[in-house]
Amino acid sequence: MTIEEYLVEKATMIENALEQALPGVSEEPSAVHEAMRYSCLGGGKRLRAILAMAACRAVGGQEKDALGFALALEMIHAYSLVHDDLPAMDDDDYRRGKLTSHKVYGEGMAVLVGDALLTQAMEQMAKLPELYAITLPTAFRLLLAVTKASGTKGMIGGQVLDLQYAGQDVDKQVLETIHRKKTGALFQVALTGGAMIGGAKNDELAALIRYAENFGLAFQITDDILDVIGDAETLGKATGADQKQHKATYPGLYGLEESQAMAARCVEESRKSLKYLSGDTWALDQLALFVQNRDR
Ligand code: IPE
Ligand code: IPE
Ligand code: MG
Ligand code: MG
Ligand code: MG
Repeated sequence: MTIEEYLVEKATMIENALEQALPGVSEEPSAVHEAMRYSCLGGGKRLRAILAMAACRAVGGQEKDALGFALALEMIHAYSLVHDDLPAMDDDDYRRGKLTSHKVYGEGMAVLVGDALLTQAMEQMAKLPELYAITLPTAFRLLLAVTKASGTKGMIGGQVLDLQYAGQDVDKQVLETIHRKKTGALFQVALTGGAMIGGAKNDELAALIRYAENFGLAFQITDDILDVIGDAETLGKATGADQKQHKATYPGLYGLEESQAMAARCVEESRKSLKYLSGDTWALDQLALFVQNRDR
């Protein structure tokens, strides 16, 4: 199986499971349920969910055991995108090849859609013992890890810096911190959470943290690069958006070529960590390469 085939197969499975996990349009309040489904379903690479399942397998667990956790991550990610696209933030009109939530439902509803997806993710986490046979202590550790990664010390902290430093000169360290927090933190918890479910030993968790740190940074560097040289239709979102908003980016600070070299070095480093894992690491290895070569 190629990585492209693998991605399609897993994304389809995750899409179907998300479809079931989200409240139906026929349930009240249907307006917000419809808008939640619009932004969470029907697109996206599903990388965070896929990484969680791949990490579970890479430590000897079964991929399907991490599915419930993986869905919660995709809800949090979708919420972060809905809010990231708001006029008060990046002001983007397209996401995953469709109009953004606020363009379709209005800004007030888009704020609520983000809030609701985050809350839905917490409900999903709380249901892990009941629906996915995860022990209570593990579910509690996962919940703590996810809230830390998504909150002010993680993703939100990164988004705050991203806003504060827009239009300003940043040094290399600040830029790396922004990227590690706004994007890296959720990838990291996807990987370590999936591995916890798979029964990872401490040295395996440490190796996955190293993989995640490099993977996450490489991912956001390539996101910045694609904003400059990517194709809007393939990406499903506008290009040139960072420059328009005067965002702090890798190509902005280092230039395109050096940014590409840095992403490649991160990917190389991440792949090296995989030799410490006891299970099947094919997917994690291929996913790292995908990040370096991606066009979407
Ligand atoms: C986009 O993430 C936002 C960033 C953190 C850079 P993805 O590129 O993973 O978005 P989808 O889920 O595939 O749409
Ligand atoms: C988004 O980063 C990070 C989060 C949503 C947490 P970007 O603003 O670079 O993502 P895109 O380019 O809009 O997808
Ligand atoms: Mg942004
Ligand atoms: Mg954005
Ligand atoms: Mg971007």
